[in-house]
Amino acid sequence: MIIIKSPREIALMREAGRVTALALEEVRSLVEPGVSTQTLNDAIDAIIRREGGKPAELGYYGYPASVCISVNEVILHGIPSPKKILRDGDIVSLDLVVEKNGYMGDACRTYPVGICGERPLRMIAIAEEAFEAAVKLVRPGARVGDISHAIEEVAKKYGCSVPTDYTGHGIGTQMHEDPYIPCYGTAGTGPVLKEGMTICIEPMILEHRNAVRVLKDGWTVVAKDGGLTSHYENTLVVTKDGYEILTKQ
Ligand code: MF3
Ligand code: CO
Repeated sequence: MIIIKSPREIALMREAGRVTALALEEVRSLVEPGVSTQTLNDAIDAIIRREGGKPAELGYYGYPASVCISVNEVILHGIPSPKKILRDGDIVSLDLVVEKNGYMGDACRTYPVGICGERPLRMIAIAEEAFEAAVKLVRPGARVGDISHAIEEVAKKYGCSVPTDYTGHGIGTQMHEDPYIPCYGTAGTGPVLKEGMTICIEPMILEHRNAVRVLKDGWTVVAKDGGLTSHYENTLVVTKDGYEILTKQ
């Protein structure tokens, strides 16, 4: 069931989204060679709490950290660790969900570490381009398949692929609500968007083949072929004539 949010609920989601975007923006300057992913986790956790929010990923199905931090071939759900040190030329995605006053904001950015080569920078750009291509289709009457198709087309254009088992989603009082929004699909199919729906569009891009596997920790999702990956996500609300992004500053 897709829940339509009231103006009061959308105002609460705007606030959760503001904190989400702020945490991603503030921590950006800490992303440097030599820093551990644990340090980034702790900095984000502190910002969220300072702003009166809670890191909603902590404890979600037992997830052990406040943020998912995924480096290079790790596409999703990397667990922060003091042993995981960022190196020059890495790309790192920070994927976080903030709960404030019972409502959620969910966003992800992939950042370059130090001086990055063309190959990793291209991965970052492809995820962002896929997001832009998809989001500009959002308005009442558009369909979820339109979004999915737009993401898939951008990935394909660059010879990249998208995962099939992980998707964007609705969001509200729950981190994951209907509708599910795959990164591949057919335009003109799927649920119809309506004013007041709040959704997360999140292109996840694999450099080569779309096969992934989950490591023994039960969380870390990696590209099977070891290729690079990238991820970009925002929470948005469908408005009368388009959309408003809730997790951008
Ligand atoms: N932030 C992720 C999403 O975009 C979900 C995180 S899973 C968790 O849907 F277990 F880490 F919370
Ligand atoms: Co999400």
